[in-house]
Parts: sequence; structure tokens; C-alpha cells
Amino acid sequence: MTETKKDFIDLTQFNKNELIFLIEDGINKKNMSSKNGMASVDEDACAKNKILATIFEKPSTRTRFSFETAMYQLGGKTIYANMSDMQLGRGETIDDTAKVISRYVDIAMLRTNKHSTLENFAKNASIPVINGLTDKSHPCQVLADLITVKEKIGDIENKSYVWFGPANNMLTSWIHAAQIIGFELRICSPKDYSVDNNLVSGFPNITTDLDPNDAAKDCDCIITDTWFSMGEDDNDQKRKILEPYKVDSNKISMASSDAIFLHCLPAHRGEEVDADVIDGVNSVVWDEAENRVHAQKSIIRWCLS
Ligand code: CP
Ligand code: NVA
Repeated sequence: MTETKKDFIDLTQFNKNELIFLIEDGINKKNMSSKNGMASVDEDACAKNKILATIFEKPSTRTRFSFETAMYQLGGKTIYANMSDMQLGRGETIDDTAKVISRYVDIAMLRTNKHSTLENFAKNASIPVINGLTDKSHPCQVLADLITVKEKIGDIENKSYVWFGPANNMLTSWIHAAQIIGFELRICSPKDYSVDNNLVSGFPNITTDLDPNDAAKDCDCIITDTWFSMGEDDNDQKRKILEPYKVDSNKISMASSDAIFLHCLPAHRGEEVDADVIDGVNSVVWDEAENRVHAQKSIIRWCLS
């Protein structure tokens, strides 16, 4: 294994300047991108002659398409694989798989059920490895979200953010970002689905156990996600407990008048968010989804640099 390969596993591996660099690189290069078709290769073509493997153990729309588009725009190629079609299902280990894939491609992105699967792959691969979502975290998405915040409200650090809903992989990456950048993050989750205190203790800018009826007061950004992450069972009791945490027009009306609404998608209208919010004027979810491409490009550039 090379000592110098650069994996993108979690935001915690970056300091504030490094994370801000990734955000600004995404925005700068987005503004310089050619508008002559989605596969137009950027001038720097930093992934020319490179292949990215995208390997999925769970479904994906945005992550798959945005990584493929990003790689084309960087001048490279991609190979997609669903883990269930690989020999992994027949007993080949993740360690051996990582060693073999490293002989075929230059960089790999994985979406896995367990975070430890991603870590084992990264440990055994001699190429850079990117976290495309695990049960623990979703750093690529939060990088795209921070790019969106910067574009829409101009500043990230001095803004307040509210998370509504159960603790999950998205929230973990938001917590990592708040710890690095220092912005105010209010976590509004019911006790039964609350965040592990060890993750947030020692960070006064992160508050928990908020009342859903006033958590959004004067905030700049409201964030939510599906109540049932991939691999979790649908459950009516959980749905009932989460009902007061749904993002509705009352919550939006409490926020700052130019507050933005973020959702990584896929969304469930009428469940974690009402249709008049996600399809309303405060919602920036389509730009957020587009920014996945620009975030992935920033990540791939960093990994290959
Ligand atoms: N937000 C996100 O990661 O979407 P996909 O599951 O469609 O990739
Ligand atoms: N928390 C969600 C995010 C989907 C992009 C999940 O893991 O399914």
C-alpha cells in the first residue's frame, strides 16, 4: 500500500481551512464549468486517463449520477458495480476485493451498509477511496450542502442551522461540519431517536433536546432527511413519535425570512416535510442536488492531487 493515498472517509479528517478550501474549490470550478453539455471536459481535466469505480451496496440516484457526471467533466471514466453482482456475495472478502480493484482503477467510491466495510476496503486498497454513504456518515452530501449554503446565503460560519428528525448518518456529517467550522447547530430530535451525547459533548455551538415548536426561531437554515434510512424497517410507532418534527410551514415561518430549506433527498412529502415547504420558496433542494456534482469534483480533485 502507498502511504500517500488520500481517502475521503469523513469530514473529521479536515481542519477548518481545508474544509473551506473544498467548499470554495467546488464553487469556483462550478462557475468556470463549460455549459456546452454535461459531459464537457473542464480545462484542467485533472482526471484525464483515470478511472473511478463506483461500488454500491445500497440504492442510489444522486450519488451514482453525480459521481459519473463529475468524473466525465474531469476528463476521466467510470465503472459502476452493484455489490450484489460481485463475488463478494459468494464469499470473496472485502480485503481481497480492494486489492484487486486497485489494479484496475485509479480511485474508488463506495456506498456500504456498515462503515467498517468502507474502512476495510480503504485499508486494503492502494488507491484513494471515497465514502459515498455508510450507516455512520454521508460526508459528500454535507459538502454539497455547505456549497449550497455558501451560494445561497453567502456565509457558512456565522449562520444557525436546525436539524429536525431522527439522528442518522446525515446528522453525523452535519455535526462533524459544525465541529470543524464552528457554526451553531440545533439538533431537534425526539429522545427515542436522539444523537449519541458522546458525539456532541464539549461543543457549545451544538445544542440538543430542543422543543420542535420553537427550535427554528430566527434560524438561517432548516435541514431534514427521511425518517427511515436505507436498510431500516418502516415502523408506525416511530412515525408517530416523529410527527411533531415534520418540517411544515409553521417551522418555516419561525425561521429568518430568507432562511433556506435543505433535504438531501429522496424526500417523502407529508412525512418528514410538507409539500408546500419542499416545493416552496425557501427550498433550495434542486440546487443542493445539482451541487452534488460540484462537490464530487472537488473531492475527486483533492483525492487525486
Ligand atoms: N442524497 C443522496 O445521497 O441520494 P442518493 O441516495 O439518491 O444517492
Ligand atoms: N439517511 C438517508 C440518506 C439518504 C441519502 C439514508 O441513509 O438512507
